[in-house]
Amino acid sequence: MLKKTFTRTLLAGAALLLAGQAMTADNSKQIEVTDASFDCLTAMTQVGEYFVDNLLGNLDATVAVAQSATGGKFPPGSVVSLIPSEVMVKHQEGWNPETNDWEFFELKVSPEGSSIAVRGTTEVVNSRGGNCFGCHNLARAEWDLICGTDHGCAPLPVTREQIRSIQSGDPRCVREN
Ligand code: HEC
Repeated sequence: MLKKTFTRTLLAGAALLLAGQAMTADNSKQIEVTDASFDCLTAMTQVGEYFVDNLLGNLDATVAVAQSATGGKFPPGSVVSLIPSEVMVKHQEGWNPETNDWEFFELKVSPEGSSIAVRGTTEVVNSRGGNCFGCHNLARAEWDLICGTDHGCAPLPVTREQIRSIQSGDPRCVREN
């Protein structure tokens, strides 16, 4: 009886896993990313206008690319966020060549933390209906899909002041103050 339930749970889990990863090219290159992988912006490292982290403990390498004046390829595990609800995470090389191995996330954020609302590759759209990859893919090749302000992407329809106020209003940071 117990064994049967266990097998069924296992099968359901495997089916879920397959469905969730159907869009990716090579699942063996996927780094585990859960709600708990995401931190409040001020707990991350700020580089210029955005914030970075590294899920594999390789923060120095991530910061080095983020700070580079000539671009470069972000290392696996890199987490990049401009506003709390939109995050990019870099999987291992070969995970999904079309997006340079980046996965796009739309998060729901609250004082309780982050919860993943949408995740994936070229199909992910944000809460305003904009396709993440559609915009970020306009960055010139050396910038590894990072838009910044002068990498070739169309500018966001918000002012720098609005971006900063969204950043400082990150609801996840409340508990840490
Ligand atoms: C309308 C085009 C557009 C859409 C849609 C869009 N972005 Fe961006 N994104 C930008 C631009 C432009 C910047 C740079 C803004 C700035 O610093 O002024 C940016 C910044 C970022 C950054 C900081 C690093 C960088 O590229 O400068 C991350 C991370 C990010 N976006 C993730 C996402 C995710 C995830 C989605 C989808 C859920 C998304 N974006 C949707 C255009 C877009």
